Amino acid sequence: MKRVRKAIIPAAGLGTRFLPATKTVPKEMLPIIDRPTLLYIVEEAVRAGIEDIVLIAGRNKEAIEDFFDCSYELQDKLAKDGKHETVEMLIKIQNMANIISIRQKQAIGLGHAVLCGRPIVGDEPCAVLLGDEIMISGPQQQTVTETLAKSYVATGLSTVAIMEVPENEVSKYGIVGGTMQGDGRLRIQAVVEKPAPTQAPSRWALPGRYVFSAEIFQYLEKTKPGKNGEIQLTDAMVEVAKAHGLLGAPLLARRYDAGDKFGYLQANIEMGLEHPEVAPRLREYLKGLLQRI
Ligand code: UTP
Repeated sequence: MKRVRKAIIPAAGLGTRFLPATKTVPKEMLPIIDRPTLLYIVEEAVRAGIEDIVLIAGRNKEAIEDFFDCSYELQDKLAKDGKHETVEMLIKIQNMANIISIRQKQAIGLGHAVLCGRPIVGDEPCAVLLGDEIMISGPQQQTVTETLAKSYVATGLSTVAIMEVPENEVSKYGIVGGTMQGDGRLRIQAVVEKPAPTQAPSRWALPGRYVFSAEIFQYLEKTKPGKNGEIQLTDAMVEVAKAHGLLGAPLLARRYDAGDKFGYLQANIEMGLEHPEVAPRLREYLKGLLQRI
């Protein structure tokens, strides 16, 4: 099986849950402490051995492109001020991977956003990482994308991350159903986009990490608008499951939905408690705050 070298990061959604901030700033660029959400996601991809990253961006895509580009004036000023560590940090971000940006002209669904990456991915397998979902794995642990890519190479089958959610949350996610195999992976037989709890095939939700063989594009091309009038990735996944087989690997990482106000706050607080610069003050502040509320 071909190694997974390419990834698509869809970041062209309208981010309506985060208005008014997302009127001018893509939600993928909102910072968790001092690093944009997107940087955590690119780092996860790079740790999984991804070399080429296709960013699917919409309006305001310049902010995303510029972030991974060289900022000569800024770096020059920082260097003259003796801030060499900061310069190194910026250069590291610039050189992380080959970032190729493609515009999704209209936000007509995640499936369509992934299809926009086809000209770059071609007939290779590819990872898909949602631009607003942060997955944190320990330094010694495999990243979620790495686990999925290894499963693809070992089995030849597209593999997606799955996580169990409470029944009252199934209508927020794509939900899969199937049979749990002896190796701990789910053989997926059904995929339903945001079902009502009574229609859900299980409580296994899709948290936004996937590795697909190139066949996904041929199904996406034929996918008609589905739930909410959008071209849904889950509809193409149904076809992949039927024609080739599809596996679900349970999520082992910490996950934050940074496209949701509460998830975004959670990420800032929990990452803040691990950030060397702010952790001690934040801990004391939270302790005091808890006594007052
Ligand atoms: P969401 O389902 O969170 O959609 O997309 P959204 O429109 O951005 O957000 P809300 O619900 O209006 O607040 C999941 C991921 O897929 C991308 C988004 O940018 C996000 O990273 N996406 C979604 C696209 O790139 N294009 C689309 O047409 C839809």
